[in-house]
Amino acid sequence: MRVPLGDRSYDVTFAPDYQGLAAAIAALDPTRVVVLADEHAPLPDLDANVLVLPSGEASKSWDHAGRVLDRILRVPLDRRSVLVAVGGGVVGDLTGFCAAVALRGIPWVMVPTTLLAMVDSAVGGKTAVNHPAGKNLIGAFHQPSAVWAAAHTLETLPAAELRSGMGEVIKTALLAGEALVSDLARHTPFDLAQRCAAFKANIVAEDERDTGRRAHLNLGHTLGHAYEQVTGFALRHGEAVGLGLVAEARAAVSLGIAPPELPGRIASLLTAAGLPVEPPVLPEEALRAALALDKKASGDILVLPLLRAVGEVTLVRISPAELVERAKAKP
Ligand SMILES: NC(=O)c1ccc[n+]([C@@H]2O[C@H](COP(=O)([O-])OP(=O)(O)OC[C@H]3O[C@@H](n4cnc5c(N)ncnc54)[C@H](O)[C@@H]3O)[C@@H](O)[C@H]2O)c1
Ligand SMILES: [Zn+2]
Repeated sequence: MRVPLGDRSYDVTFAPDYQGLAAAIAALDPTRVVVLADEHAPLPDLDANVLVLPSGEASKSWDHAGRVLDRILRVPLDRRSVLVAVGGGVVGDLTGFCAAVALRGIPWVMVPTTLLAMVDSAVGGKTAVNHPAGKNLIGAFHQPSAVWAAAHTLETLPAAELRSGMGEVIKTALLAGEALVSDLARHTPFDLAQRCAAFKANIVAEDERDTGRRAHLNLGHTLGHAYEQVTGFALRHGEAVGLGLVAEARAAVSLGIAPPELPGRIASLLTAAGLPVEPPVLPEEALRAALALDKKASGDILVLPLLRAVGEVTLVRISPAELVERAKAKP
């Protein structure tokens, strides 16, 4: 599939393995290739400098980005050098960010090796590192020049990471409509990822800079991010998004937007994927405070996507306090 963005267009390939990746990179005509790889991700055999990065969110820091840039600028790089990210969203976001700022922007290729990255972060060009004040607060839009998802990489992915990715798959299916929802039980995670990536590619093509329809992709994420924040990131991203999907659906019912059966239906999709559906009991004051820091908030009011039904989204403006209150309401 192709993400059509004028001179920033790129191909997203879903392949059985890494065969063909070297040719896809060579097609970019790079002077040098530098691979930044997660220590647990299967490494492709490429003619490149390789930097192996420690796994975990801590790698996505400003400090670490500085150290990575120190190393790669010494290679040395020029404007036609290509960075290749091999890993999940952490290595992808970090590599994309380094590519956005090195020499004011060099090409990069994303090789997502987690389900979550295949579904979500690989397509769209949002790159970032974290700051103590919050996740992803320092970043840039910088589209990759190619994306290569290889099915065999999911074979080594821990089961908990695969489940976490399913949280993002279920979110996308709820946005995409009944056809994808009914395929959830019938298709492999890799096949589902491909369809989710295609759905996201369409939205990104329409709204690259996240000023319109791209906000729909934030479904489940407003409360999901707050749960991540308040639990000190004890929840995996996809788990938190799953909990957010159920709680936001409860809020939608309480607001009279969605039918009462929606939260239960979402909960059964999550349960079938082995994901939790009831958020841990968290201090409401902390939740409200975390919501107030939401990047999508304008002033004290949150703007969040809620489902009217599967495949039907509406943007709602609501205060953090009201969202927390309505999300508690069990129909
Ligand atoms: N840019 C975006 O649009 C976007 C979208 C969603 C999420 N994100 C970011 O993505 C990050 C989360 O990404 P993630 O869930 O992929 O987590 P991750 O990158 O931390 O990877 C999860 C774990 O899987 C391991 N791993 C990766 N590939 C493996 C493989 N093939 N085999 C075995 N182990 C493997 C890693 O070492 C790590 O321990 C967050 O930082 C989030 O902010 C970005
Ligand atoms: Zn997400």
